[in-house]
Amino acid sequence: MSRIKIKTLLSDSALYLDSTIEVKGWVRSKRGNKHVAFIALNDGSTILTFQIVCDTQTFSEEMLKDVTTGACIKAIGKVVASQGAGQSVEMQATSVEVIGKADPETYPLQKKGHSLEFLREIAHLRPRTNTFSAVLRMRHAMAFAIHKFFNDKGFFYIHTPIVTGSDAEGAGAMFQVTTLDLNNVPKVEGKVDYTQDFFGKATNLTVSGQLEGELGAMALGEIYTFGPTFRAENSNTTRHLAEFWMIEPEMAFYELVDNMNLAEEFLKYVIRYALDHCIDDLKFLNEMYDKELISRLESVTQHPFVRLTYTEAVEILKSSGHKFEYKVDWGTDLQSEHERYLVEKHFKKPVILTHYPKEIKAFYMKLDEDGKTVKAMDVLFPGIGEIIGGSQREDNLEKLTARCAEVGIHESDIWWYLETRKFGSAPHSGFGLGFERLMLFVTGMGNIRDVIPFPRTPKNAEF
Ligand code: 4AD
Ligand code: MG
Repeated sequence: MSRIKIKTLLSDSALYLDSTIEVKGWVRSKRGNKHVAFIALNDGSTILTFQIVCDTQTFSEEMLKDVTTGACIKAIGKVVASQGAGQSVEMQATSVEVIGKADPETYPLQKKGHSLEFLREIAHLRPRTNTFSAVLRMRHAMAFAIHKFFNDKGFFYIHTPIVTGSDAEGAGAMFQVTTLDLNNVPKVEGKVDYTQDFFGKATNLTVSGQLEGELGAMALGEIYTFGPTFRAENSNTTRHLAEFWMIEPEMAFYELVDNMNLAEEFLKYVIRYALDHCIDDLKFLNEMYDKELISRLESVTQHPFVRLTYTEAVEILKSSGHKFEYKVDWGTDLQSEHERYLVEKHFKKPVILTHYPKEIKAFYMKLDEDGKTVKAMDVLFPGIGEIIGGSQREDNLEKLTARCAEVGIHESDIWWYLETRKFGSAPHSGFGLGFERLMLFVTGMGNIRDVIPFPRTPKNAEF
């Protein structure tokens, strides 16, 4: 007999009524009385459980003693209409076999209602909870929606390197990659001799696939990357990971406004996708963690995002009368509290901020005509702050090399990047979406450590 997944069974229950089937999964709970035992079974295909009814005439206590929370079982029986509330069909079991026991004395998820902090310490088991299985299913759905969005538009997925010799963001917080013996580092004139290292030069884990993505856009027109990204910043916040996934589209012939339009359409598309395809998981998360989750997702898909310049935003913040921890002035980088004030208090909608001072943005952004600001855009979201960062790129070789000199980037390090401005240069733009920030938004979870299976944060890489 072949196994049927619980999702298939429950979404097409009429089809299976009266037939004998087999299910496999993990026991969520077992309860009952003298006459009957009820097993709630989950197999991960859906948040919903399937009820298995064991008549105590057929099943002695002994036969069901190892059917405890967390155990893995196989059950065979007839699908019948359910007497109880909460499910349309259930199984009248004829056989129950324990595939893998879970000792009730030591199984960490024996009881319900563990804190998210505790669950982080058992990251190897937390996918067995309703919360994490919901998050993980939605993570898959979002990744799929992202590929679908770009594929349907004719963008090409390109794979950019994870080990690189360049520093795309110039932020200087990178993980070094080396095979040198750290107890005996070769040196010349007091400095590390990287010519003896694996790649013959200093290398690091990538902070962004953008620079290589731009090379792709200058040949294929419209591309995107979707890969792991690493930042060694020591930021212990609910919004930062040391290893996160980033989606970076890059488009030839797009100017800043086209870039903004794409970012807005993209975010609305993937959020709509979550509403249309993940409603069971969303209802659970809405009920458990965030009663406004579903209505917030609906609202974001329905209204245009607000668009304004950094300069206008600074004016609003300065005249708001609100007391911020960090003072705002033209030229300072906006803190998360400022971004969230604009989105959550002032506009109550997602905001796209543009034209930031060049000093607080990366070297590759296109200079505005005034020479002070750049064609940058950050998309700010309720509860999150910055979800997307992007810009139109500087496509003029002289201006770009001048910017490199200003910020201390050696041309010899990114000569290959500069050559795209030498040969067949074109206006182009792109942006980066932090996948886990999107996951925070669509799941309503409050901590970025809870939307990735195995979070990497300072002093934490156990699993
Ligand atoms: O704004 P960022 O640093 O931009 C870039 O890396 C550009 N190269 C993107 C581009 O134009 N192609 O990062 C982009 C996004 C942020 O808006 C945020 O959502 C996410 O990546 N992000 C992080 N997410 C989790 N943990 C971190 N430490 C993050 N740093 C950035
Ligand atoms: Mg940014």
